[in-house]
Amino acid sequence: MAEKNLDFTPEQLEVYIRHAGKVIRELYSEKLERRVFPGMEPDKVMGLFREQLPEEGFDISDLLEKVRTDVVGAATMNIGPHYYGYITGGGNQVAILAEMLSAALNQNNLKWHSSPVSTELEKLVIRWVSQFIGYPDSAAGAILDGGSTANFNCLAVARKNMMPDHMSRKGLSGMPPMTVYVSAEGHSSFDKAADMLGIGLDNLRKIPVDDRFRIRTDLLKKQVDDDLSKGFRPICIIGIAGTTNSGAVDDLTELAEIAKDYGIWYHVDAAYGGPAAALDSVGYLFEGMEMADSVVINPHKWLYVPFEAACILVKEPEKLRKTFSLIPDYLRSNEDGGGRTDLMEYQLPLTKSFKALKVWMTLKAYGAKRLRDTIQGDIENAGYLARLVQDSDDFEQMAPVPLSITCFRYRPEGMNDEDAELMNRKLAHAIEQDGRIFLTATKISGKTALRTCFINPRTTKKDVEWILEVIRDVEADVMQQSSRK
Ligand SMILES: Cc1ncc(COP(=O)(O)O)c(C=O)c1O
Repeated sequence: MAEKNLDFTPEQLEVYIRHAGKVIRELYSEKLERRVFPGMEPDKVMGLFREQLPEEGFDISDLLEKVRTDVVGAATMNIGPHYYGYITGGGNQVAILAEMLSAALNQNNLKWHSSPVSTELEKLVIRWVSQFIGYPDSAAGAILDGGSTANFNCLAVARKNMMPDHMSRKGLSGMPPMTVYVSAEGHSSFDKAADMLGIGLDNLRKIPVDDRFRIRTDLLKKQVDDDLSKGFRPICIIGIAGTTNSGAVDDLTELAEIAKDYGIWYHVDAAYGGPAAALDSVGYLFEGMEMADSVVINPHKWLYVPFEAACILVKEPEKLRKTFSLIPDYLRSNEDGGGRTDLMEYQLPLTKSFKALKVWMTLKAYGAKRLRDTIQGDIENAGYLARLVQDSDDFEQMAPVPLSITCFRYRPEGMNDEDAELMNRKLAHAIEQDGRIFLTATKISGKTALRTCFINPRTTKKDVEWILEVIRDVEADVMQQSSRK
């Protein structure tokens, strides 16, 4: 008779959990300082896993060893202190425990009775996250996989509530063309959403920004007036609370007032910057966010929760439910209600993982005060790097630093703009290959900048100082190589 049970014995299970624990321990005690980018070519990474689909199972201890050597070996060390790329948090160790327990429980919170605990914990987390950032805690919400999905979902809520009810049945044909407004610094997830929601890329109005990369509200109003006069249907104004490029925060109060005056849905993308609203030092920048009809905030960015966890918050719960509630026969049960919430009515996904556990355990284990202090530490790291850049004679700051992103470029005295452009493009790649630190390049006002994002409490002041030293070193190598050619 073939072996049907996939489980270990309880004793074996514990042995393997200990073994996995050792892999994690080694990662955090010995490998955080390892080179950040593993430096392997795609073929080399594939080579580690060029294997046939196994007909017979692999020994679990051997499998865990393969993870320890090959999977960890080919991973970018973004949990380490020297990773500054994109907006990638370093996670936290309480959440490692949460993820293990969540996988063990394998809850599916599509309906209340399929997971009472994950449903209620998710509602609690939505309330806590709202409280943390100063959003009304009567809001409804859901924890989704990422900011892109979350922004897509919120634009869908805006569309549903701003357009006639029969659009859901009849589709977009015959509807007035919709328009959505965001600053030229808005995240690309809005372009994707505008495309997929039938709004159209051309109808996503990218409003120019001021010298601090904040939306020009005078131009916004002009554009809305112009669109109204031409028969467009403005459905959403988006405020950015922490742009991806430089961390700029729009004037959220003024945007709220404009949205109110015109009767347009007001969405705030606080995917990255949102948690900083809780701080005494920069909280004032976020005033007005509480007036938004919907907000996106990613615990997997600046609340140090490991991937994936992005919250949508919608001020009027019924507007969220109206968008996503659809109950087929096979999901019709326990109709007596009794205060039960079926999360499938508040989100696009039906099945999803128990994301609330890691967010709840993170908030509970560290507490709001410690998280605020940690976020403040990240802001100070970014400010410290900006000061080092300003005090140097070979680097140049490219944008203000309102939160925890510092954009700068290498440009010693005497280097012209064209050479600086070329050098910084080369540097971004050469720094990745060098592996001591990891950062990415972007364009600031059309010029290539090196961009560092600080959302990792493992980064110290000394690490910040090392950034410019490493770049100078890499620059010397680049120069040497060019002179050899
Ligand atoms: C402002 C902003 N919105 C949305 C997103 C998309 O979030 P995610 O990467 O979780 O899809 C990002 C990502 O960096 C972001 O910075």
